[in-house]
Amino acid sequence: MEKNHFFTQIFLTLMAVSPMIACNDNAAENNDANPDSASVAKASVTQAEYGKIGDAIVTQYTITNEKGMIVKLINYGATVTDIITLDKNQSRGNVVLGFDSLAGYLQPGNPYFGSIVGRYGNRIANGRFTLDGQTYTLARNNNGQSLHGGIKGFDKVLWNGEPVGDNAVKFTYLSKDGEEGYPGNLNVSVTYTLTNDNELKIEYSATTDKATPVNLTNHAYFNLSAGADSTILGHELMLKADSFTEVNNVLIPTGKNPPVAGTPMDFTTAKPIGRDIAQVPGGYDHNWVLRRDGNGLELIATLYHPGSGRYMEVFTTEPGVQFYSGNFLDGRLKHTRDGQKYVKHAGLCLETQHFPDSPNHPHFPNTILRPGETYTQTTVYKFSTK
Ligand code: BGC
Repeated sequence: MEKNHFFTQIFLTLMAVSPMIACNDNAAENNDANPDSASVAKASVTQAEYGKIGDAIVTQYTITNEKGMIVKLINYGATVTDIITLDKNQSRGNVVLGFDSLAGYLQPGNPYFGSIVGRYGNRIANGRFTLDGQTYTLARNNNGQSLHGGIKGFDKVLWNGEPVGDNAVKFTYLSKDGEEGYPGNLNVSVTYTLTNDNELKIEYSATTDKATPVNLTNHAYFNLSAGADSTILGHELMLKADSFTEVNNVLIPTGKNPPVAGTPMDFTTAKPIGRDIAQVPGGYDHNWVLRRDGNGLELIATLYHPGSGRYMEVFTTEPGVQFYSGNFLDGRLKHTRDGQKYVKHAGLCLETQHFPDSPNHPHFPNTILRPGETYTQTTVYKFSTK
C-alpha cells in the first residue's frame, strides 16, 4: 500500500511538471502559472535582482495573472522584457523581442526593446523647438534630429519600481529641468497592469513645473509567432486610420497628412504586413492618424498571426500610432533571447503617441504640458487566440 502511494505521488508530480518541461524556460519559474494545470493560479507580482549598473540594483518584476499569462518588467527604462501568452494549441511563447540578460539591454544600439521612450517619443526636427518665445535645443542622436528623448532618454535611466496589489507595477522617474535640453522638472509615472482578461494596460501620467513637450510611449517589438517566424511579414495588421503623417528623408513630418486609400499605407482592413511593404522605401515607419470617436480608450489596431492563432488588440487614448516594421534590425544584436537572430522585420512596434515633431507643427494635436496640468495616456494590449 505504502509503495502504491509512493508511485501515485511520483506520477502526480510528473503530471504536474510535464507541461512545464515542454514549454520554454520562462514557464519553469512559475509553477502556479502553469496554464495546463487543473487549478487556477492566483494573480501575483514577484521581484528579483536582474543585474547591476554600478552599485545600483536593477530589479525584474514578474506579474502572473489567473490565466497563467506572464509579463516581466525591469526598472531600467521601465522596460517590458517578456510577454508570455498561450497560442491556439495552449502552448506558451514569448511574444516580444528581448534579451537574455541586462547586458543585452545595456548594449550600444539596443533599439529601445520594450522600453518607455520619452520625454518626447519619436522625432523633433533638428532637436529644436520654440515655446512661449524661447528656443530650446535638445540632444540630437539621429541624423541631426532628436529621437526618443535624445542621447539618454527615459529608456536609459533607472526608474523607481514598486508592485501595486497582486497585478501591477508602478514606475516613477524625475526628469530634471534641462535634462537632454528639455525645460522643467517632469515627474513621470508609468503603471503596468496585467488583468485576468489577458490585457497589459499601461497608464502614464506626468506633471511639470515649466511648460514642456511630453510624448510618452512604449517601444515593445511584437512577434506573435514567439520565435517560430523570423519576421512579422506574415502577420495581419489592421489600423483604424484613414491618413498618415507624411515624412521627409530623415523621417520628420512634412506637415501633410495624406489619405491612405489606394496606397500601401492602407490598413483599414486587415492585411499581411508583407503584402505591400516592398512599395514603401525602407519599410513602414510612420505615424498613422487614428480615426477616433472621442478622447477615451478606443480600439485602434489589431494584429493576427495565423500560424499560432495569436491575436492582439490595441486600445489607446492617443491620437496617433507609429507602426514601425523593425526596418533597422539587422541580426547584429547580442545577448538575444535563446540566441535568436533579430533580422530586419523580426518584430514590429505599435507605439501609441502624439504625432512626431508636434512642437514644430501648431496644427498637430497639442503636446505641451504646463504647470498645473497632468499629462495622461492609457494604452492596452489585449491578447487572445482565434
Ligand atoms: C522609430 C524608428 C527608429 C526606431 C528605433 C521607432 O520608433 O520610428 O525610426 O529607428 O524607433 O529603434
